Amino acid sequence: HGNLKQGSAAVAQEIASLIRSKQAKNENCVLGLATGSTPKSLYAELVRLHREEGLSFKNVITFNLDEYYPIEHDALQSYNRFMHVNLFDHIDIDPKNIHIPNGEIPKDKIKSHCIQYEELIEQSGGIDLQILGIGNNGHIGFNEPGSSIFSKTRLVTLDNSTRIANSYEFPTFSQVPRLAITMGISTIMKARRVILMAWGPAKAPVVQKAAEGHVDEQIPASLLQQHNEVSFVLDEAAAAELT
Ligand code: F6R
Repeated sequence: HGNLKQGSAAVAQEIASLIRSKQAKNENCVLGLATGSTPKSLYAELVRLHREEGLSFKNVITFNLDEYYPIEHDALQSYNRFMHVNLFDHIDIDPKNIHIPNGEIPKDKIKSHCIQYEELIEQSGGIDLQILGIGNNGHIGFNEPGSSIFSKTRLVTLDNSTRIANSYEFPTFSQVPRLAITMGISTIMKARRVILMAWGPAKAPVVQKAAEGHVDEQIPASLLQQHNEVSFVLDEAAAAELT
């Protein structure tokens, strides 16, 4: 029954204590990260913890969920740029520990790029904690309705509703990419801990379906009910339709 700020601060605290407990054991901390409006205040709080409370990200390895395709690394709307502007430029993470699907990869190299992304996650020891938002249609990452529980990192076609929801970032609707590279549902399910965040009344119906409805590939986030270390962190408005 809190608000976005309290929820974000609580998630930031969990991330900070995970990073610190890994540091104490001389281990890396592997984070799966999301973009969009939902995690912005989480990233702001992590930056604050770095600046004011000495939280170091030297042992942190990150894997972002998704990226538009095709898109230039520096494009205003790229998720690569989003992550640098909102988080990476303000913390002490080693640039070589940052992984984001490559929106500039040539078409004929997408398959091998996706296979390599999965391999990099495994080689890093697997994702310790995955941060998720949720789309109005129930997508997680860019796993649109109908995505298989077995899906891995791959090229996908964005739903029209997703393109509409994200069109505010682009000068015109037709400039919203039709494709994206996204981690799969199985990639997400392999994370040892998953936190899905949602704020605001618009997310209330899909949050209810995801948390309390049937486990159904038509609502990809409902598949998280089969994960044994998942939490939904919601503000009051996003939680309003839960029974
Ligand atoms: C972004 C992502 C998406 C968003 C979702 C919600 O990396 O994976 O699934 O989390 O579209 O977007 P916002 O937070 O903008 O409402």
